Amino acid sequence: MAATAPGRQAWRQLMRNSCRGPATPSNLLRQQHRAFTRQASSTTQSSSPRRVVTQSPSTFLRRQPLAQRSYSSGSQGHNTPPRSNSQVKFWPFLIVIAFGSGGYVLLANRRKKMPPTTEPAPATPAFSPADVTVLFVLGGPGAGKGTQCARLVKDYHFTHLSAGDLLRAEQDRPGSQYGALIRDCIKNGAIVPMEVTVALLENAMRDTIRASGNKKFLIDGFPRKMDQAFKFEEVVCPAKLVLFYDCPEAEMEKRLLERGKTSGRADDNAESIRKRFRTFVETSMPVVDHYEAENRVVKVDSTPTPDQVYADTQEKLRKVLGDKL
Ligand code: C5P
Ligand code: MG
Repeated sequence: MAATAPGRQAWRQLMRNSCRGPATPSNLLRQQHRAFTRQASSTTQSSSPRRVVTQSPSTFLRRQPLAQRSYSSGSQGHNTPPRSNSQVKFWPFLIVIAFGSGGYVLLANRRKKMPPTTEPAPATPAFSPADVTVLFVLGGPGAGKGTQCARLVKDYHFTHLSAGDLLRAEQDRPGSQYGALIRDCIKNGAIVPMEVTVALLENAMRDTIRASGNKKFLIDGFPRKMDQAFKFEEVVCPAKLVLFYDCPEAEMEKRLLERGKTSGRADDNAESIRKRFRTFVETSMPVVDHYEAENRVVKVDSTPTPDQVYADTQEKLRKVLGDKL
């Protein structure tokens, strides 16, 4: 389409102005207005030099042929005629839509064939309870767990693994990365992070089985916290039962203070004992309650003499385990 001479002039002006700012609709409107004012004045000047015609931008836009209106700074829409509707190609869109829908249907069918997403399967314990016997031995500090375990080892060929003893050995092992952490926890009667204790126990069990073939374990002072219980039974071995020594705090305190005279333990002093009692009530008793609710606890009163407590222990264990003791 041949543009008129004033039209071409207005367009050139528009192009020049377009370099002065971003091609926002308002900028272009402003530029078109300026261009039109110049165009109109030059047109009128050529016929009648004193008449200046001004028009609003909207009037100017309305009067411009559609092909000359544009908010873009591209070339189309001015000297180039617009494409008519009949020239717009629809088939590329149809192809895209067809491929898109096909892909979606394929994906949907594939998902239908996939098994439903479930929780990750629980880890298999390292040892089967059919093969390995684990008895947890719990009770407050000073309840007499160690004393009773020593007798059970002698009479029933258990291997005694004390979580506290393993932690103290790890604490003193040269180069241990957990030494300082364990020392701090023990002094304050706090529970050592379960990963450390569970790993020490698992290693000790493996070593024992490898060295002696013995697969009967008394795990003393463990689990002292629910996370230890869950972790151990999940990755190491489910326990057969919990042997719980029940003793009043006053009696346990008396025993611990007596033991502290010769034990050399950093936590057998009045202040640490108080903290250990609090940890036991708040953190360890819920473990006993948990197993009690599962009917897996053998409870023994450990206030009497060691002999009496042991007699009671044997009787109760025999009742539950029979010849498996
Ligand atoms: O059982 P024992 O009294 O020897 O434990 C000493 C200390 O070892 C506890 O007070 C606690 O700091 C730590 N311990 C632990 N987790 C366990 C057993 C002992 O953190 N299962
Ligand atoms: Mg002990």
